[in-house]
Amino acid sequence: MHCERAITRDLFWVGGNDRRLALFESVYPIPQGVSYNAYLLLDEKAVLLDTVDHAVSRVFFENLAHLLGDRPLDAVIVNHMEPDHAATLQQLVEKYPDVTVICNAKTAAMIRQFFTFETDGRLLTVKEGDTFGAGRHVLRFVMAPMVHWPEVMVTYDATDKILFSADAFGTFGALGGNMFADEAPFDMAEARRYYTNIVGKYGTQVQALLKKAAGLAIEMICPLHGPVWRKNIGLFVEKYQRWSTYTPEDQGVVIIYTSVYGNTENAAEILAGKLAGRGVSDVRLYDASVTHASYLVAEAFRCSHLVLATTTYNAGIFVNMENLLHDLCAHNLQNRTVALIENGSWAPTAGGLMKDLLAGLKNMTLLEPTVTLKSALKEDQLARLDALADQLADSLPRPTVVHDGSPVEQNALFKLSYGLFVLSAKAGDKDNGCIINTVTQVTDSPKRISIAVNKQNLTHDMVKQTGVFNVSVLSADVPFRVFQDYGFRSGRNCDKLADQPDVARSANGVVYLTRYANAFLSAKVIQTVEYETHTVFFAEITEAKVLSGEASVTYADYFDHIKPKPAATAEKKKGFVCKICGYVYEGDTLPPDFICPLCKHGAEDFEPLA
Ligand code: FEO
Repeated sequence: MHCERAITRDLFWVGGNDRRLALFESVYPIPQGVSYNAYLLLDEKAVLLDTVDHAVSRVFFENLAHLLGDRPLDAVIVNHMEPDHAATLQQLVEKYPDVTVICNAKTAAMIRQFFTFETDGRLLTVKEGDTFGAGRHVLRFVMAPMVHWPEVMVTYDATDKILFSADAFGTFGALGGNMFADEAPFDMAEARRYYTNIVGKYGTQVQALLKKAAGLAIEMICPLHGPVWRKNIGLFVEKYQRWSTYTPEDQGVVIIYTSVYGNTENAAEILAGKLAGRGVSDVRLYDASVTHASYLVAEAFRCSHLVLATTTYNAGIFVNMENLLHDLCAHNLQNRTVALIENGSWAPTAGGLMKDLLAGLKNMTLLEPTVTLKSALKEDQLARLDALADQLADSLPRPTVVHDGSPVEQNALFKLSYGLFVLSAKAGDKDNGCIINTVTQVTDSPKRISIAVNKQNLTHDMVKQTGVFNVSVLSADVPFRVFQDYGFRSGRNCDKLADQPDVARSANGVVYLTRYANAFLSAKVIQTVEYETHTVFFAEITEAKVLSGEASVTYADYFDHIKPKPAATAEKKKGFVCKICGYVYEGDTLPPDFICPLCKHGAEDFEPLA
């Protein structure tokens, strides 16, 4: 019996769920199953986006037949040829003999490799930027090679702003009753395990796709596995930014060991206790002989520090640790701090061999020396584990303070400079944000900051009303568009946040920028001081998080590199230009009380036109 689901009024999920498969790709355990998503667009033309794995072919064809009724299937778009999505293509062509197969040239070659159906006159071959008109919907094709096979492309519905993202933004786990990520519990750990193990190796290619996607207005993402995203897309994109740049999500230590008779495990356990004693809160231990490598690869991508502890075995590395190291190398892990513990009863060699394998990875910091055990940890070696615990703790950021359950990362405050910031607030259902340039740390304990905000800004009034705000620290890669969006228009006559894909909400319910910001601070106002044009708010930090390693943008960067230079005009005008946003006031004299209508800066920030 069919079980298709509506996504929009003319887009339907026609895939299937497999909760019986033990190993996805014959490698990865999927205790929560997996979904194979296919989508049917019913416009003037009926267009199918991808097919499914053999395992769910019956329900897929039932879904399709039910929705099509007497209509023909006009086209199928093959975004990805891997058989978990394309295995039923031959059957589809046989059932719907008039269907056109839309694909790129690489896909066409693979179709001929996998299948026997006649492709002459059947295929419509597309390339980057080509479009297909389905009626009301215009579908544009964007190539995404190696995310996760070389032929992969994604399809963008420019009409409804939907990205059919192939494997990208997918996850393990069969779908429950709800089709949307915002309507059901979403397990980010499984999404991380899916990403890191399936496409983790191809960070550069994922970055290329993210750059292309940044140029598209996206309101919904329909991946080939897992739920559809229509809210908080920025949250998932931020994870993809981190994973694809091999940037740790969390500052902590993952200790992975193998142990034949428990002695190496004992050293790992003692080290974990010593780290906890030094205030390292995120310490996790795994036995690589028990936990599947896919979970350990995901943990290695999540966390900043790794300790690998293993036995010497057949004069080499114990087999399960060796396999894990090969897996980490295959997935291109980078930018981690690693410490090693080796054990060996007569000739410990595992440490040196692990080092050799790790040497192939980029930007790895190895903490020396390797701790060597001979059979079992001895009392006089505890000092060596203490020294290793010190090294690890010293290389981690200062422990995070917790304020009412929300983390306050000290490093987030280190991002403050004479820079530029998005100040955001929420009053009732209204979100708003504006650009400010004065955020200063006032005290360290308790952590307090001050901000100065122009009284003409709506955000000023919202902060005054609610006493709660966020500051997103803008990073050096911020484009001028962000200043236009938040600084050069007023929230009084537009919804500035309505079309912002790169935002998320912090614990206080206020939005912050997930992109072009290297940290955000949440704060609660404790005192205000009024000046003529500005209110200075003193506030206590309630949450603080580092978002990226990008440098903070400075005021000088803004003027030197970001703000467009005024275009030369044939006819020289008389007037004054706002140094902040470039607004031009035409006239011989500038009134001393003039306020820039765009950025709200006063006459002191204007200079005569050159
Ligand atoms: Fe879900 Fe690369 O296949």
